[in-house]
Amino acid sequence: MSGLTVVNGLGRYPRTRPRRLRVAAWSRDLVAETHLSVNDLVWPVFVIEGEGQREPVDSMPGVERLSIDLLVEAVGEAKALGVKAIDLFPRVEPHLKTPDGREATNPDNLVSRATRALKAAHPDVGIFCDVALDPYNSDGHDGIVKDGVILNDETISVLIKQSLVFAAAGCDVISPSDMMDGRVGQIRDALDAAGFGHVQIMAYAAKYASAFYGPFRDAIGTDAALKGDKKTYQMNPANTDEALREVAMDLDEGADSVMVKPGMPYLDIVQRVRETFAVPTLVYQVSGEYAMIKAAVNNGWLDNDRAVLESLLAFKRAGANAIFTYAAVEAARLLRDG
Ligand code: PBG
Repeated sequence: MSGLTVVNGLGRYPRTRPRRLRVAAWSRDLVAETHLSVNDLVWPVFVIEGEGQREPVDSMPGVERLSIDLLVEAVGEAKALGVKAIDLFPRVEPHLKTPDGREATNPDNLVSRATRALKAAHPDVGIFCDVALDPYNSDGHDGIVKDGVILNDETISVLIKQSLVFAAAGCDVISPSDMMDGRVGQIRDALDAAGFGHVQIMAYAAKYASAFYGPFRDAIGTDAALKGDKKTYQMNPANTDEALREVAMDLDEGADSVMVKPGMPYLDIVQRVRETFAVPTLVYQVSGEYAMIKAAVNNGWLDNDRAVLESLLAFKRAGANAIFTYAAVEAARLLRDG
C-alpha cells in the first residue's frame, strides 16, 4: 500500500503530508497554482460633468464619481501603479435622459469627451466603453421601451450609432452590456464598414438579472428611473447551459472576448465558459460584491486587504483572464507592496 499511515512509537501517522509544502512561504509560493497580477485588472470608473468635481458614491465606500479633469489625474495615478485599462460609465444629467436615449449617440456626450481627454493624456491606457442605453434612457432600461416592452431590434440600431460614436472618440473596446439578441454581429459589421476594424468588442455574453447591481444604479443615477426589472433581457440566475449558448452566439458574431457578470456568485459560469470555449474570459466583480466586502470591512468583520485580494484570486482560479473591479487601484497597491 502507498500507505497513508506508518507505525512508530507514537502509533500510526501519515507518510504523505500535504502540510510539508505549506510550512515555508517560499514553498507555498513555489507550488501556487494561480497568480493574481496587476495585468489582470480593469478599473471601472464613473464620470460626471463639470470641473474639479468629486462625489463619493454612498453605497460604494472608496468609490467616487469624477469630472473629466480629475478622472484624467486619477487614471494617471492608476497607470503609475500598473493598472492598464479602465471601463467608463457616465452619470448623465437628468435633463438629457429621454425615452429614445438619444444622448447615447451624441458625439460630444460625456463618455466621448472623457474618452478623448483620456486618450490625449494616457494613450497607452486601454479604454472600455459600455454600450447600452440605461444611463441615457428616461426609463432606466438598457433598451428602448414601448408599452412596457424592451424593443430588441430598434435598440440595436441605436447601439450601433453609440458604438460608432465611441469608436470615433478613441474607445479601444466596445462593450455591449445590454443583452439584446444579435447586437454583437451588427455592431461588428458597422465598425468594420466605418474603418474601425481594429476596435475590439467585449461582449457581456453571460449577464444575469442580478440583485448585486444595486449600488451601480445608485452611482450612475438610474435606480430611481428604472421602471420594473431587467428580467426580459438579462439572464435568469438559475441557468448555466444558457450562458454557454449566449457565449457561443456572441463569439460566432465576432466578439473578441466575453464577460461573465456578476462574478463571485457565478464562478461556476466563469469556469464553464473558459473550459468550453478557451477564449478570453473576463469577469466583473460588480458594485454589490464590492459593497458587500466594504460593508463588512467597515463593521470590523473582515480584513480589507486579505478579503479584497482573496476575492480577486478566486476569479483567476476559476479561469478568468481578466477582472473588472472597483478595487483595482487598491489591489494594484497591495500587489506592489507585496
Ligand atoms: C447596464 C450595466 C449595469 C452594470 C454595468 N452595465 C447594471 C445593470 O445592468 O443594471 C452593473 C455594474 C455593477 O453593478 O457594478 N448597462
